[in-house]
Formats: sequence, C-alpha cells, structure tokens
Amino acid sequence: MVGSVKRRRPAPLVVPSFAKLNLGLEVLGVRQDGYHELRTIFQTFDLRDDVAIRPRPSGVTVTCDDPDVPTDGSNLAVRAAVELQRFVGLARGLEIRITKRIPVGGGLGGGSSNAASVLMALDRAWRLRLGTAGLYPLARRIGADVPFFLFGGTALGLARGDEVYPLRHQVLAHVVVAHLGRPVSTAAVFRRLDERLTPRENSTTIFRFVSRDLEGRALPILSNDLEQAALEEAPDLAEQVGRIRVVLVREGALLATLSGSGSSYFGVFDDPKRARRARAALAAAGFRAFRGQTLSQDRYRRAWARSLGVVTRTRGADQGRSGQHGDHGRQGHPGGRREAEGVRIHRV
Ligand code: C5P
Repeated sequence: MVGSVKRRRPAPLVVPSFAKLNLGLEVLGVRQDGYHELRTIFQTFDLRDDVAIRPRPSGVTVTCDDPDVPTDGSNLAVRAAVELQRFVGLARGLEIRITKRIPVGGGLGGGSSNAASVLMALDRAWRLRLGTAGLYPLARRIGADVPFFLFGGTALGLARGDEVYPLRHQVLAHVVVAHLGRPVSTAAVFRRLDERLTPRENSTTIFRFVSRDLEGRALPILSNDLEQAALEEAPDLAEQVGRIRVVLVREGALLATLSGSGSSYFGVFDDPKRARRARAALAAAGFRAFRGQTLSQDRYRRAWARSLGVVTRTRGADQGRSGQHGDHGRQGHPGGRREAEGVRIHRV
C-alpha cells in the first residue's frame, strides 16, 4: 500500500535547570553601565525545573506549564537559543518546553537557570563543543545571573554578578525556602537602594567568608544588602517576612535571609530534623515552603552528565547521593535516603 509515512518526531532532550540562592550579597556602588557592582555567594540547591528541547522546522518556540512565564521573545530561554543561533550562524528551529517548579519572580534564578540550561543542552544537541568557556560570553549577554548556572555549586559572583568563580569549598547543608507569593521588581529594588547607597571600594563579609577556611559557622556572617530595600519596595511582604524569620531562627537556622531581590526567604540548617520542623511550621502557617539540600558543583555536574547520557568519574565527598529529593507539596520526599547532619564543607 502506498501512503504517507508519518515521520516520528524525535524524542526531546530533557535537561535539569536548578534554582539558586544568594547566601550573601553586597552592593558596592553603581557602575558606569548603570548596573551595580556586586559581591555575592551563589549556591545551587535541589529544586529544579525541567527543560526539554526538540528540533522543529523553523523558529524558536517555548511553552511552560506555569502561566506566569512569558512565552514570547522575552523568555530568557528563547533569548539563549537566539543568541546561540546568531553566534554559530545556524538558524535551526527549536521547540522548548519548560516544566516549572521554581517559583517565578522569587529571586531563585529560575529564568536565568532555564537560559543556561538551553545553552548547555544546545551545545550538546548541535555538537558545537563550545563548553563553559565558549558559552560564558553568551550567558553574560543574556542576564547577570546566567553565567553562574554554567558552573553551579557554591561560587563567588563579582562585577554585575556575572563574573563567576567556583569556590574551592562547597557548602553542603539543608535549606528551607519560603516563597512569598508575588514577585518583586529587581530593578525597582536596586533603584530604592540607590537612595541610601554609600559607594565603597570593597566587600567586608563576602571576602571574609571566602578567605576563611569555611566552617559552617562562617555562614552567619553573611547577609543581603537588598533585603531592606526589597521590604520597603514591597511593604505588604514585610509582615510575612517577619513571621517566616521568627520560625527559621526559632528552629535553629544558621542563616536566614532574602534571596536576591526577593521575594523568597530562606534558612540554612545543619540539622535535617530542624529543617523538617521549620518547613512543617511554615506550611502550617500557610506559606508555600520547600525543603531541600544545597547542590555542590560536583553533584550539579553529575546531574547534567546523567541527563546528557555522559559517563563521568565520580569523586568528592558527596558522591552517590540522589539528584532529586526536595520536600514540598509537588515533589514529595523519597523515603529511605540517609540524611547527613551538619553543614559540611566539601573541598573540590
Ligand atoms: O541582568 P538581569 O536582567 O537579571 O537584571 C535585572 C535588573 O536588575 C537590571 O535591569 C538592573 O536594573 C538590576 N541589576 C543591577 N545590577 C546588577 C544586576 C542587576 O542594577 N548587578
């Protein structure tokens, strides 16, 4: 029988897209390009979106299961694909599908992470072999937080936050992250900060944190210079933040602060039981809260390698852990996994 043979669509390549926290953030002053000179400690943790890419005849499209995510050219994942197309001179069509778990507008870097995931996935799918060094300048053009996600783990961010130095010491700890339910404009928070900003030459706590031999006890010296401005920008959130902070501190958080310009507020714990209690107390108080673990650079890389079907040599103190084990409404919590106690510092 002669008939049209339906071509099977190729299976999508599905890659992870992890969230970040800013364990600390200092703003030194306004730069000539209008951005702010930052010193920040980035940290990935195990809350993730999934990004699926699949070829299509032409054009770049994006869909997402969260209606708050834009599906036009302003989506950072689309911008990443278009930047890469331009850079390599290829106009291949692409379909991007994002499964969202990272709250939108939460200061958790979801959009930036999605963009970096598209860059890394296309580097593989299109066999470009650009690697981290080749993708880095493109990532910087897309957004200040995008380059960090080419590395993951615990990293120092300088300049606009886009000059990234992975740290030799990787923080392994438990985190509880509460989302405040509405986004806060990053640009507006920076503008508000400008009204009181006294420019300074250098950082105080971030460099102390980096230069010390990091024991867990170094975490409490960190804070976020954007916190006060963010709460002035969104005064309706200040009361909620007060209540979240009380719970986190009462349960023994070593650090309790805002991530980025908000609106997520998080605590870092050395004891999983305390973290579990804090999350339960926040959920009982009506907050959307996630409990998980920080993700070292080594684990970040291995999660990526698994998704790309690459076999890697495992190494490092945290090898052998499962990649996904957050604890909140949608993701659940896998049973039977032993949880480490203490904030441990993993030398890489
Ligand atoms: O780079 P990204 O688009 O994520 O930044 C969002 C906004 O945050 C910028 O438009 C800018 O107003 C502000 N920003 C800043 N200094 C930085 C990073 C971001 O002023 N280092």
